[in-house]
Amino acid sequence: MEDRLEGVLNKIEELPTLPAVSQKILELMTDENASNRDIARLVENDQSMALKIMKIANSAFFGSMTRATSLEQAMVKIGMNEVRSIVLAVSVYDFFSNSDSGVFDRKRFWKHGIVCSQTAKYLGSHYRTGNDTLFISGLVHDMGKAVLDEYFHDEFISIINYLELKRCTFSEAEKTVMGITHAQIAAKLLTQWKFPDEIISQILYHHAPSEAGEFEKGAIILYLADIITKAAGYSCHANEETTDLKDFSQSDQVSYINEKGFRLDYALLERFVNHVQESIVGEADNMISLFD
Ligand SMILES: [Fe+2]
Ligand SMILES: [Fe+2]
Repeated sequence: MEDRLEGVLNKIEELPTLPAVSQKILELMTDENASNRDIARLVENDQSMALKIMKIANSAFFGSMTRATSLEQAMVKIGMNEVRSIVLAVSVYDFFSNSDSGVFDRKRFWKHGIVCSQTAKYLGSHYRTGNDTLFISGLVHDMGKAVLDEYFHDEFISIINYLELKRCTFSEAEKTVMGITHAQIAAKLLTQWKFPDEIISQILYHHAPSEAGEFEKGAIILYLADIITKAAGYSCHANEETTDLKDFSQSDQVSYINEKGFRLDYALLERFVNHVQESIVGEADNMISLFD
């Protein structure tokens, strides 16, 4: 298993980097002296990216009452943080091929991510976290699965088979078959791409938020957003078992989340799921076409 794991890590190290515009944006994200103007100029240089941002900013996803006709207007309208997130989101989306491998439904996968991104953002504002990395973290939280499907396809099939045979969690199957989980794979690749620590930690611990240290609150939100997304009918895989909300509300996980000051119960969980079904999922279909 040791050798196998090292082989996996080496192979991830050889994966390509993101396009220049995204790398630059990532640099600016950690540069205190960078201005919004710097970001605007950068995006303007990339025609296809600029077009996508216009389309997304004018979509119902951002509750568009007025139409932005220039990139500058679009940026004012949706805010610079959102622009940064969209550039990163589009780059990660483009990194993966869109063709189905037969065992992994990419459309379903991205829908799960898109609904989760909006759910995470919604939960972030409900709990007043002031965290502006939840949209992008939610969108790509399961990208390790796409890495597995695309670059470790044989192992991915073994994981799916193991999952169906043992009816265990995805992470358990991954650990048994490969010795590494999709969360760890995503974190490794995002570290190579120099994403901010907050995003990396939230994604690394989206199934184990209590281990996320200083980024625990964000990891809890992502963990909850994932569960609520599935409960709203947007699971990542077709045969995935969804968490029963009543059982979940009485679980140790929810006690732990409440201990961290979140105030969560069955009624609130149901309210969250209803909100997602009424206000978020309707836009998920349109959203996928915006990324293309
Ligand atoms: Fe996951
Ligand atoms: Fe997920």
